[in-house]
Amino acid sequence: MKAFTNVKDLGNLGVAVKEALEVKQNRFAYKSLGENKTLLMVFFNSSLRTRLSTQKAAFNLGMNTMVLDINQGAWRLETERGVIMDGDKTEHILEAIPVMGSYCDIIGVRSFARFESKEDDYNEKILNQFIQYAGKPVFSMEGATTHPLQAFADLITIEEFKKKERPKVVLTWAPHPRVLPQAVPNSFADFMNEADVDFVITHPEGYELDPQFVRNAKVVYNQDEALKNADFVYAKNWSPFNDNNYGKILSKDTSWTIDTKKMSLTNTAFFMHCLPVRRNVIVTDDVIESPQSIVVQEAANREISCQVVLKRMLESLSCK
Ligand code: CP
Repeated sequence: MKAFTNVKDLGNLGVAVKEALEVKQNRFAYKSLGENKTLLMVFFNSSLRTRLSTQKAAFNLGMNTMVLDINQGAWRLETERGVIMDGDKTEHILEAIPVMGSYCDIIGVRSFARFESKEDDYNEKILNQFIQYAGKPVFSMEGATTHPLQAFADLITIEEFKKKERPKVVLTWAPHPRVLPQAVPNSFADFMNEADVDFVITHPEGYELDPQFVRNAKVVYNQDEALKNADFVYAKNWSPFNDNNYGKILSKDTSWTIDTKKMSLTNTAFFMHCLPVRRNVIVTDDVIESPQSIVVQEAANREISCQVVLKRMLESLSCK
């Protein structure tokens, strides 16, 4: 595996989930695979789970890790070609990336949507420059438009908790005070569309996601209707994808907050969220603290999803 940015990079998804469950049973079985190999994690944005789970996955495989926070301690990077660099940016990303690549064997990159240009965001301008110029395998630790390590962990969690072969999984929009990217719902939809689940997306009108991720999912504008008989409720805020409203907030409708009344419409569904979550905005205290909330188990599986990706990248390196 040379790059990991979406579900297709995993190949057969059933095989990948099986591999993940095996890794989870014996997470130190491949400790020698990463011996003398170094993972560089580059963060353009903040993180708790990704920062810790990715390092833990690397340690499980015997790797060394280095973490670079671009906005704390590194030179300020210019990302546009052709700019006269007489301002506050000291280094160009086109030198910085191959230099970073020269110190490591695998690179993870976190670079969120900037909402300055939808085209730049949806072209994954930063992540793709790493893939093009690093000379090393690169995986997304959440890009502008996808968060595949999260969605893979979400799928592993659904596999572990499901009580029937083809559970109903509902991705629901929920309100938020700030403009958030579509990366998490995009990747969740990307993975659910490949998984053996009955997948429904619900959101207010105007919050339609990119059709390349929605594909054949059922889209329902009435949240109560969508939640009926759900086995899993995945709550998340996202901002509009459509050109006219990209990077704006159209609604803060608190009637979309997941509370016990909403959960009572479901088939005693499990509650999921990628975290961090704003309590009593996205979900009430009662729901997130209930026995049906599996947000911590979901976050714990980030170690496993990442370990599968790193393991496959290390295996590719040793095949050279
Ligand atoms: N879910 C997730 O990616 O969490 P962090 O932003 O804390 O890494």
